[in-house]
Amino acid sequence: MDARITLGEGLNAPDYVQHKGVLEWVSSMVALCKPAAVHWCDGSTQEYDALCNLLVNNGTFQRLNPAKRPNSYLACSDPSDVARVEDRTYICSEHQDDAGPTNNWMAPTQMRETLKPLFDGCMAGRTMYVVPFSMGPLGSPIAHIGIELSDSAYVAVNQRIMTRMGRAVFDVLGTDGEFVPCVHSVGAPLLPGSTDVKWPCNPTKYIVHFPQTREIWSYGSGYGGNALLGKKCLALRIASTMGRAAAHDGAPGWLAEHMLILGVTNPQGRKYHIAAAFPSACGKTNFSMLVPPESFKGWNVSTIGDDIAWIKPGVDGRMRAINPEAGYFGVAPGTNYHTNPNCMASLNRDVIFTNVALTDDGDVWWEGMEKDSGSLPAHLIDWQGKDWTPALARETGAKAAHPNARFTVAATNNPALDAAWDDPQGVPLDAFIFGGRRSTTVPLVTQAHNWVEGVYMAATMGSETTAAATGAQGVVRRDPFAMLPFTGYNMSDYFQHWLNMGKKLGHTGVTLPAIFCVNWFRKGEDGKFVWPGYGENMRVLKWMIDRLEGKASGVDNGLGISPAYDEMQWEGLDFDTRAFARVTDMDKTDWAQEIALHTALFAQLAHHLPPELSTTQRALQQRLAA
Ligand code: OXD
Ligand code: MN
Repeated sequence: MDARITLGEGLNAPDYVQHKGVLEWVSSMVALCKPAAVHWCDGSTQEYDALCNLLVNNGTFQRLNPAKRPNSYLACSDPSDVARVEDRTYICSEHQDDAGPTNNWMAPTQMRETLKPLFDGCMAGRTMYVVPFSMGPLGSPIAHIGIELSDSAYVAVNQRIMTRMGRAVFDVLGTDGEFVPCVHSVGAPLLPGSTDVKWPCNPTKYIVHFPQTREIWSYGSGYGGNALLGKKCLALRIASTMGRAAAHDGAPGWLAEHMLILGVTNPQGRKYHIAAAFPSACGKTNFSMLVPPESFKGWNVSTIGDDIAWIKPGVDGRMRAINPEAGYFGVAPGTNYHTNPNCMASLNRDVIFTNVALTDDGDVWWEGMEKDSGSLPAHLIDWQGKDWTPALARETGAKAAHPNARFTVAATNNPALDAAWDDPQGVPLDAFIFGGRRSTTVPLVTQAHNWVEGVYMAATMGSETTAAATGAQGVVRRDPFAMLPFTGYNMSDYFQHWLNMGKKLGHTGVTLPAIFCVNWFRKGEDGKFVWPGYGENMRVLKWMIDRLEGKASGVDNGLGISPAYDEMQWEGLDFDTRAFARVTDMDKTDWAQEIALHTALFAQLAHHLPPELSTTQRALQQRLAA
C-alpha cells in the first residue's frame, strides 16, 4: 500500500512507472475525477488479499466459508446493475458511417462534452485504482496493454483474475510503449459525512469507445462487461477496429472475435483447434470445457479460451488464435456437474461470485445445482439479500440467483486447460463454428461450401436473446458473428474485412479454416430441447473432424453439407432417426421466412454491404426453393 497517496501530494507513482504519457494521463484524470487517493496496483497476492479484505469491510464482499470454498467471495450488486447495457454503449467514431447502423453513435466532441460534467469530481471521497493490464501474454508481440483507472476495488480484484495485471505491465510499457487508456467510474462520489453503499452505481450509464484515439470511458455501472474494460470494450470493440486498421497494402490485418477456442485430440493423438462464436449466455464456457461421453474413449477436449479470440495469420501459413484473457467471467446458473464438470471443478476455490445465492453454511448456490444434489436447499439468502425457500420459488417463481449471475475465476483453475493456452504464437485453427439459440429453422450442424458462404452464414446468424444484456429476453434478433454488441465499427465493413481476409490469405497460401454453423437449441412440439447438448456435442465435433479428414461425405441440405444419420457416432446415446430429423430438417416455409429476415438485415446494412453476400443469398434462395 506504499503507493497510496492523498491528493495534493502529487501522484506518488511507484518508481517503476517511467512512462511520461501514463503519468501525464493519470495526472489529468486525477484532476478531472478528483479522487481522495490514488492506488497503483502491483498485482501481488498481498494486494489482492488486502483489497478483498477492504471489500469485505465495506460490505461489498462476503467471505465464503473457507472450509467449503477457500479464498472465495460473494458480491451482490444493486438490482439495477446486473448486466451489460447495450442501449448505453456508444462507438464515437468521427463519422457516424464508421459506427454503422448497429451501434449507438455520438460525435466525439459532443460525447466528450457529455462525459466531462459526469466525470468531473465523480471519484470524490473514493480511491482511484490504477490497474495496468495486458490482454494476451505479457510482452508477447500479439498482446495489447490497457490501463484502467477505476474507483471500484471490485473492478481491481476482478481485473487481476481476468487479465495479466500488475507491475510487470510497466516493465513491458517502458518509457513510451502503447496502451489503451480506460477510465471507469461507478458514478457515485462519496460526499463528506455520507456513508457508502455496498454496490455504488448511478442510474445514468455510458459505456463509450473512441476508436480513432483508442480510448474507453465507462460511467455509472460496476458490473461485468460494463466495468471490466479489458473484456468487451478493449478485447472486442477496440481490438476489432485495430485488427481492421492493420489491413492495408496487401497486409491482411487480424480478427478480434467473440469466440471460445478449444483443442480436440483424437485417440490417435492428432489434435485440432476450433474457434466457436455464440452469443452471450449460449454455453460457450460449457463447450470450451466439454467432457466427451464415455463411448468416446481416447478423445480429449482442452480449453484455450471461453469467450474471446484474437486471430492472426501465422508465419506457418495457418490462422492462429490466442485467448487475450486470463480468466473466465462465466454465467453461473445452469452450471453443474452434468452440464460442465470441469467448470464446477474450477470453482472449488479462489473465486469471486457475483449475484448468486448464499447457503446457510456460507457457500454459494444457483439454479441448476439441484441436479447435482438431487434436491433444493431448504433455505437460502437470494442475490438480493432476501430469504428464499423452495415453497416461495414454487409460488412466486423467485430465483435465488440472478439469471446473469457470474463467477470470476483464473483460467489456471480449469482442469481441462490446454497446455498451449497462453502460447504467444497462438494455436493453428482448423475450423470456425457459428451458433445461435434457435428453437426452430436452423439445423444441428451444417458445413459451409466455402469461405464466402461461411461468412454469409455467420453474418445472418440469429439468436434468441438472453439475460446477459438488459432488455427483452427470448426474442430472435440477428446477431452477426455473435458480434452485434461487440463490433467497434460498421458491421458491413466488418463483413468485408472477413471476406478480404479470406481472399488475401487464400492467395498467399494460408489454409483457411473450414466454417460450420450449429444449433443446439431446436425444440420439439412439447417445448423441450430435442438435442441433449453439453458433452453430447462431442458427436457433432467428431463429425466435423471426420469432414476435415475427408471421412464423411455428408448430404447437401441446400445451406451446406450436413451429416447423414449414419455418419454420426451414436454409441451410448438413444437418439433415433426421427429425433435426428427433428434437429436437422430444413422446413421450406421456415426457410422462406428466414431468408426474408436476412433480406431485412441486409436492407438495414445496405450501405457498404459486400455485394458477395447478396449474390450468395440469391444462390441460396434458389437452392432452397429447388
Ligand atoms: C460475456 C457476455 O460476459 O458475452 O461474456 O456478455
Ligand atoms: Mn461473451
